[in-house]
Amino acid sequence: MTSKILILPGDGIGPEIVAEAVKVLECLRQEHGLDITLDYGLLGGGAVDVLGSPYPEATRRQAQDADAILLGAVGGPKWESLDRPQRPESGLLALRTDLQCFANLRPAILYPQLAVASSLKPELVAGLDMLIVRELNGGIYVGQPRGIRTLENGEREGFNTMVYRESEIERIARIAFEAARQRQRRVCSVDKANALEVSELWREVVERVAKDYSDVALSHLYVDNAAMQLVRAPKQFDVLVTGNLFGDILSDCAAMLTGSIGMLPSASMNAQGKGLYEPIHGSAPDIAGKGIANPLGTILSVAMLLRYSLNQPELAERVEHAVGQVLDQGLRTLDITATGMTAVGTQAMGDAVVAAL
Ligand code: IPM
Ligand code: MG
Repeated sequence: MTSKILILPGDGIGPEIVAEAVKVLECLRQEHGLDITLDYGLLGGGAVDVLGSPYPEATRRQAQDADAILLGAVGGPKWESLDRPQRPESGLLALRTDLQCFANLRPAILYPQLAVASSLKPELVAGLDMLIVRELNGGIYVGQPRGIRTLENGEREGFNTMVYRESEIERIARIAFEAARQRQRRVCSVDKANALEVSELWREVVERVAKDYSDVALSHLYVDNAAMQLVRAPKQFDVLVTGNLFGDILSDCAAMLTGSIGMLPSASMNAQGKGLYEPIHGSAPDIAGKGIANPLGTILSVAMLLRYSLNQPELAERVEHAVGQVLDQGLRTLDITATGMTAVGTQAMGDAVVAAL
C-alpha cells in the first residue's frame, strides 16, 4: 500500500535540510522499492505570510490525511513580535496537539566518528546510546490558566500552569517501559517532586505503571540532578522519561553530547502510530540560506519515519548506516567539523548520504 508522506519544510534552515532528506526518500523510492507519495504543505512563518495562519486549515487537512509527516523547523525574527497565536511556534504546537502526538522519542546516540566533536571528553561519551521519551501534548505548554495580567498595583504578572492527568502520565510511562524492553530495560523518570505537586503525582503514577514491567528497572531523578548527571556521566542512562518542559531542556543538553544538536532526530507518535518526524534543532535563522546547515538530524528523522510509521526497519538501518559511512569518509558540516576533516555544505552532505545508499 502506498504511504502518504506530508513534507513541511518550515522556516529558516528548514527548507534546506528537508530538501536533503527528500533526496534520501526519493532515492529509496526509486531504487529500493519504497512505496510512497510526497505532498508538500505550509507550517510556521511561511504559512503566516501566505495564508495568514501558522497552522492553516489546508495544512491541518493534509496532516490528518497523511500516514507520516516530515518537518524541518519553524520560526524566525520576522515573526517574533506577532501575537502568540500567530507565531510560527504556535503552529508547530497546534500541529502536535491536533494529531495527538504525545510521545516524543529523542534518541541521543553518539556516532563514534564524532566523539571529538562532543563538548565532553571522548571517554565520557564513547558508546552513548540513550533515548529521551518526552511527553509532548501536556504539561506547562498547554496548562490553563496562562497569560499576562495586570495586578491592582499596576505591575504585570506572567503565569502558566503545569498540569498532568493520571491518564497522560500513564500513557507516556507505558511508551517508556515498552521502549526499554527493546533496549537495556532501564527507565529513569525525571521530575521535580521535591518542589511540585504535579511531579508528586507523576512519580506515583510512574511507580504504579512500573508494576506491569517487573523486567524493567525504574529509577527517579529530580530534574536538576538529571541535568547534572547528563553532563557528568551520561552513559548511565538508557531510557529517560519526563514531561514536556523538562524533556525540551534535557534533550538539547543530551544533543550536545553527541557532537552537535544538528545530529539529533525525533519522532512524535500518537496512539495510532501516526508520526511527526523532525530534527530537534530549531530554524537557525542566523545560518539560513547559507547552505551550511547539517541535514543529518533530518535525514536520521527519515530513518525513524521508516521504522515507526512505515514499518521498514531494514530501510531505516540502511539510512543510518549511510550516515555512518559519510562520517567515516571524513565529511563534516561546519557544526561537527574537526581538523583533518573535509568541511562540506548542506547539499554535498545530502548527496554523499544518497551516494552511500
Ligand atoms: C523543540 C522546540 C519546540 C519545543 C519549540 C520550537 C516550541 O524547542 O521541539 O524542542 O519547545 O517543543
Ligand atoms: Mg527544544
